[in-house]
Amino acid sequence: MTPFFPGPVLAIESSCDETSAAVVEGPHVRANVVASQTNLHAKWGGVVPEAAARAHVEAVLPVVHEALSVLSPGERPAAVAVTNRPGLIGALSVGVSAAKALACLWRVPIVPIHHIEGHILSVLAGHEEPPLPAPWLTLVVSGGHTELVLVEGPGRYRLLGETVDDAAGEAFDKGGRLLGLGYPGGRAVQEAAQGADPRRYRLPRAVTHGPYDFSFSGLKTAVLRLVEREGSAIQVRDAAAALQEAVVDALATKAMAALAESGARGLALVGGVAANLALRERLAADCDRVGAVFLAARLDLCTDNAAMIGLAGSIRLAAGERAGLDFDCEPNAPLPGLIG
Ligand code: KG4
Ligand code: ZN
Repeated sequence: MTPFFPGPVLAIESSCDETSAAVVEGPHVRANVVASQTNLHAKWGGVVPEAAARAHVEAVLPVVHEALSVLSPGERPAAVAVTNRPGLIGALSVGVSAAKALACLWRVPIVPIHHIEGHILSVLAGHEEPPLPAPWLTLVVSGGHTELVLVEGPGRYRLLGETVDDAAGEAFDKGGRLLGLGYPGGRAVQEAAQGADPRRYRLPRAVTHGPYDFSFSGLKTAVLRLVEREGSAIQVRDAAAALQEAVVDALATKAMAALAESGARGLALVGGVAANLALRERLAADCDRVGAVFLAARLDLCTDNAAMIGLAGSIRLAAGERAGLDFDCEPNAPLPGLIG
């Protein structure tokens, strides 16, 4: 059984462009409120750090207030968890300051959480027992990260491979922008690709030095060349389908190779790009073929959210982890508990 902290944990996430607060109790997500800044950043075609921080200042206490409304009268969080790394420093600082203030006021323990550990543990939501046999492989795919992590258990991770340049989400976002599909590109590419022909255009799969590493910058360049070559004759939906297939194929090929060679018995798919239906279907079929367990994060827990931070926090708190009120934020930081 996964040991979770007894009692409700308030979690706050503000590392990038979502302000989120959640109340998690054991493996159960009692509330998960997300205020997205997508519309704010859309006009610039990407996240503007200064604007993100200011939007977090506006949203952080309203989302906390709404999340706390699931508690019964007289009930109070027994602990606080907050993302303090990695991410945009101004954005992180807002969530961390709010979390510290509340932990100080309520006199309850606080634990800082690594954002990617939150994504990795998001698949535990709703499960008293880990839903995958250990060790399991996790494919983390988001706007900033593309990693293959062997999970021996919560807090024990082996990094098998990662992107050497762009993240999978960036491939969708930058490719989608080149195709005129707007921001963020992931969902727009998926929607445009629906029912389109992925074989009209051929986009490359990168060759990388590390067997489980990824590279997506060449794909972005190939989409640019395609747009230049085809001009106004371009079939945007078919190009979106080719782009989606190139990303999905690259991710699935490396993930399945790592699964076969690492001795992992299951594959978890997490992060914003895990919301992609083509990717979910491809990995489910590939895992089925080799008899491996496949589990994708719940759709509402793929893109950034505080529930996943609460789950990771609850596990770390149950293990006795506590931080003083003077901990810092770190824009870049490796996963905690890396082995090997
Ligand atoms: O995990 P996340 O919310 O933020 C980071 O930690 O980066 O991931 C955001 C990324 C964006 O690049 C977005 O385009 C992508 O997830 N995304 C998708 C889909 N929904 C979101 N990519 C492909 N298909 C989707 N349906
Ligand atoms: Zn994320």
